[in-house]
Amino acid sequence: MAKKFNVNGCCFPDEHYMVDISGKLNQAMKLIEQGEYFTINRPRQYGKTTILEMLFNNLSPRKYLPVFLSFEGVGDELFKSEASFAPAFARMFSKELQIKHSGIAELFLNATSNVKNLEDLSSSISVFTKEISKDIVVLVDEIDKSSNNQLFLSFLGMLRDKYLKRKREATFKSVILAGVHDVKSLKLKIRKDTETKLNSPWNIAADFNVDMSFNPAEIKTMLVSYAKDKKVKMDFDAIAERIHYYTNGHPFLVSKICKNIDEEEAEQTPNYNPKHWTLDDINWSFRWLTRPMYTTTNFDDMIKNLENNKDLFALVRAVSVEGKEVSAAADNPVVNLGITYGILSASEDKIVVSNRVYEQRIATYMQSKQETSELKDCSIFHDYGYLENGRLVLNFILEKFQLFMKEHYSNKDMAFIEREGRLVFMSFLKPLINGKGFMWKEPVIGDERRMDIVVTYGSKQKEVVELKIWRGKEYHQEG
Ligand SMILES: Nc1ncnc2c1ncn2[C@@H]1O[C@H](COP(=O)(O)OP(=O)(O)OP(=O)(O)O)[C@@H](O)[C@H]1O
Ligand SMILES: [Mg+2]
Repeated sequence: MAKKFNVNGCCFPDEHYMVDISGKLNQAMKLIEQGEYFTINRPRQYGKTTILEMLFNNLSPRKYLPVFLSFEGVGDELFKSEASFAPAFARMFSKELQIKHSGIAELFLNATSNVKNLEDLSSSISVFTKEISKDIVVLVDEIDKSSNNQLFLSFLGMLRDKYLKRKREATFKSVILAGVHDVKSLKLKIRKDTETKLNSPWNIAADFNVDMSFNPAEIKTMLVSYAKDKKVKMDFDAIAERIHYYTNGHPFLVSKICKNIDEEEAEQTPNYNPKHWTLDDINWSFRWLTRPMYTTTNFDDMIKNLENNKDLFALVRAVSVEGKEVSAAADNPVVNLGITYGILSASEDKIVVSNRVYEQRIATYMQSKQETSELKDCSIFHDYGYLENGRLVLNFILEKFQLFMKEHYSNKDMAFIEREGRLVFMSFLKPLINGKGFMWKEPVIGDERRMDIVVTYGSKQKEVVELKIWRGKEYHQEG
């Protein structure tokens, strides 16, 4: 099968052009060999599953029995109670063993056949581990997908107790958890409503300090393998540097920049040469990735996190568009949250937006938010009373327009109002009828100075609006 750049989920070396991550792999392998328990907490699409998958395949079958589990899509049922979780976990475990070691899976199923709670599960794990001559390494992906944090933490607590007693009681050699949030923040969520758990159930975990982003030398390895395969020429160092410049080595963004060029640029750029990548191609790919109307789950997630968290929104706004200096302090929960989601990073001792792609997306997003919030002030967007049964409610709209005029213009502006009032009204109306209706000015026969505005909406509604300035009762009667 021809290889491709991959931007959807885990990468596989036989299907995808990949950055060589053996340096990162070796560091993680060392922790496993030392029998450490640890957590890989990194933002979305940062290569967590890919490295777990590679660790799984890298563990020598002569020495290790690796078991790869994931809480992705397991459903809420599993997390209902200890009584449902313990046996379900055992089933999940043996099902996973079944793939490569059906004999051992059978053994595990027997050892855990009567498991009803975490205590039973704990004993069964000891019995099973003792019977196996290899070191069991458990890799658990998507740990933050569990819908019952309390139960999940009890489970981790059980693993911790076994780890502490490992000299007397057989247990897993190493446990690796992967997810966006760390176990400490799961604990925080529980504390809010119950004030329990002062000890982290995972305080045995070793630090996982591996830099999961790709440096230029690493990015180059992917370019070299692609170029060799497709017979493409390029200045590898310069291209890798430029990709790093835009992405700061974010794994998904690095692959995405390359994928755009490989698969989409030919259609977009007339003089693109697929056999010779240049810096212009990387620049194009950056612009293409950050075009305002393009979106992908990675950007959607970022925006969702900003929309759902006012403090984070304010902080990101401050460091991005307002250019404020904010100190990097991991103890500040909102700073920490921004880093957890990968939107913000610490650069020296200051907080910055993590990469130029995000910077660009955030600028576009903030600007648009600003525009719509200005509209909100001056129009009726936030009231949503302007439509009734699919028809424009003109009275309502005119009332709101009056309010807007009073708020924004004083009597001193009268000359302007006379001159431009109609235009202001039309600008005011435009976003409301956009796509569904039209409007135009129509001179009134017999009165050179007067112009009415005709508004249509849908196929049935047509209104004529006559705009006049109220100059007092007498003037009105005279008129
Ligand atoms: N070694 C690699 N070489 C090139 N690209 C990679 C590599 N590892 C990860 N990526 C890029 O990152 C993307 C996400 O990888 P992966 O699914 O492993 O991350 P994840 O952290 O598990 O994501 P999620 O948080 O969504 O589960 C891949 O689709 C790919 O674009
Ligand atoms: Mg993953």
